[in-house]
Amino acid sequence: MLYPYQIRTVEEYQNAYRESIENPEAFWSSVAEHFTWKRRWDAVLNWNFKDPHVEWFKGAQLNITENCIDRHLATRGEEPAIIWEPNHPEERTRVVTYNRLHKRVCQVAQMLTNLGVQKGDRVCIYMGMVPELAYAVLGCARIGAVHSVIFGGFSAQSIADRLEDAQATYIITCDGAFRGNKDIPLKSIIDDALIGNKTVKKVIVYTRTRTPVSMIKNRDVWWEDEMEHAESQIERDGVVSFPAVKMDAEDPLFILYTSGSTGKPKGVVHSCAGYMVWTNYTFINVFQYTPGDVHFCTADVGWITGHSYIVYGPLSAGATSLMFEGIPTWPDAGRFWDIVDKHQVNILYTAPTAIRSLMGYGEAPLQGKNLTSLKVLGTVGEPINEEAWHWYNEQVGKKRCPIVDTWWQTETGGILISNLAGITPAVPGWATLPLPGVQPVLVDEQGAEITQQDADGMWKGNLCMRAPWPAIIRTTYGDHERCRTNYFATYENVYFTGDGALKNEEGQFRITGRVDDVLNVSGHRIGTAEVENAINMHAGVVESAVVGFPHDIKGQGIYAYVICTNLHKDENMTRQDILQTVSRIIGPIAKPDKIQFVKGLPKTRSGKIMRRILRKIAEGEMANLGDTSTLLDPGVVSEIVDGKI
Ligand code: PRX
Repeated sequence: MLYPYQIRTVEEYQNAYRESIENPEAFWSSVAEHFTWKRRWDAVLNWNFKDPHVEWFKGAQLNITENCIDRHLATRGEEPAIIWEPNHPEERTRVVTYNRLHKRVCQVAQMLTNLGVQKGDRVCIYMGMVPELAYAVLGCARIGAVHSVIFGGFSAQSIADRLEDAQATYIITCDGAFRGNKDIPLKSIIDDALIGNKTVKKVIVYTRTRTPVSMIKNRDVWWEDEMEHAESQIERDGVVSFPAVKMDAEDPLFILYTSGSTGKPKGVVHSCAGYMVWTNYTFINVFQYTPGDVHFCTADVGWITGHSYIVYGPLSAGATSLMFEGIPTWPDAGRFWDIVDKHQVNILYTAPTAIRSLMGYGEAPLQGKNLTSLKVLGTVGEPINEEAWHWYNEQVGKKRCPIVDTWWQTETGGILISNLAGITPAVPGWATLPLPGVQPVLVDEQGAEITQQDADGMWKGNLCMRAPWPAIIRTTYGDHERCRTNYFATYENVYFTGDGALKNEEGQFRITGRVDDVLNVSGHRIGTAEVENAINMHAGVVESAVVGFPHDIKGQGIYAYVICTNLHKDENMTRQDILQTVSRIIGPIAKPDKIQFVKGLPKTRSGKIMRRILRKIAEGEMANLGDTSTLLDPGVVSEIVDGKI
């Protein structure tokens, strides 16, 4: 057996779980022994949730890229590390072996060093889904630079905010990115983001779409030129090397921005050792990876799922990770199935929103596609409805593939609650059991543990974690207090997830969704306050309130109630202008699905917007609006109901 800590039976799961709780230090130490360290740890775990302060494998030194690449070279050097499927189906697939990945990552590390990047510097990566994105991420990790990948759907303004917050000094981007029939001008968006920026020294541009770009003297350099130069420096007599910088276990590995219920997105910081152990452990156990399997995670590396289950988890396990540049519905809705067929994919990991969207095209796109290689299916990002679960199970998995419903968050680094494929039972719509080391607890609004079962025999409450697992968020970049108040201060001595959940008598969990003002649109997290701020930037807008509503494909849609100064212009034109504003400020992913113009918003006498009422109206539950007597002007409610779109 290649992975000594792979759980193969229910009993092994139960034993591992028990050991991980009774003696976490011994448990994680026995897992961590199977990694490559430059120095062993002095202590497995130090923590308190008050500050919060969490340290895993303190004293250890390592470089995550040696674990993701170098240690596989002797045995798997010529095996594929990354299989890349381009957006255009007729373009050539690229297969990157571990040897080749090693060379490219060493080259990037050399290139970054040549350009002056040092350990601890923040490097922003804004690229499409090309293998060079993985090289860039790993090249940063090789020299200890902290990468901050930004999803290609974010606007110049969003990038500018993130660059400022992270005080980033370098950017790696592409001329453009292909996504379906679109060509996104990444470099030109970066140029806009850099207007007024004072920290960025260099922008490295990889050529992908051959879109014209303006290269600014002394600031912008071509990836190809720099990489060619670096190649001559890292290769001597056919031997490739670039020393991996020694990192302390708790040195930051990356920053990834995510939305919360208030203010601007926050930079979630993950550190080297714990994140490495956790992504590897969860990858191997949840998906039951066996060497040689082709793992296809359809996420973008701009999100945490791509970080953990395209790059770090699979590569640290010596796996073959399939990276797809395009979208599921282009050139047609059979694209995923073509890819599964073409590359003999064994594990498919995608989002419920993608499943629902493909389900809408019926069974025709699946016809004639050979899906017999599939062994395991996975979902992530949002609750999966039973209809989509059954479609996935029957049409894609042909009822032979276990489905893992993996619950986790940007802040958790990797999967916390999930069944283990083919080992522990799957229940449609349920994430089921906590992984070893994970101690979920359901609490009420005051933080007291829920002890009473409801009429259905379930415990229902807000989902918290009692103790740290190795990949728990360490801080929010530049503002530790924000990390404390967001996650560790709502309830005492626990990490608060922001989600609500149910637990049944078997100890299985069902996630019911966010209990804060965070929306989950197509598996993307968006704060209502963020969207409101963007709408309010429009010159004609006085005030706005944003809520979620159930959406057949996206899971949740964005419903905006907007008060405008003068609506003498065509309503539809104003709507378009507002959408354009949101696109500019945040990015197209945050565009409201519905905008209703209103004269007033339901407010309490103290001026607080009663979102509960707005949510009910958006959901179409007009008959059940609850008590409106505390409103300053109850009249606005009926006006809003009458104007609902
Ligand atoms: O509400 C939960 C939902 O997605 C949120 C985390 O979003 P993000 O940090 O963007 O990470 C998404 C990918 C890990 C959670 O708070 N969520 C994630 N997975 C599930 C889920 N809801 C239900 N079931 C899931 N499997």
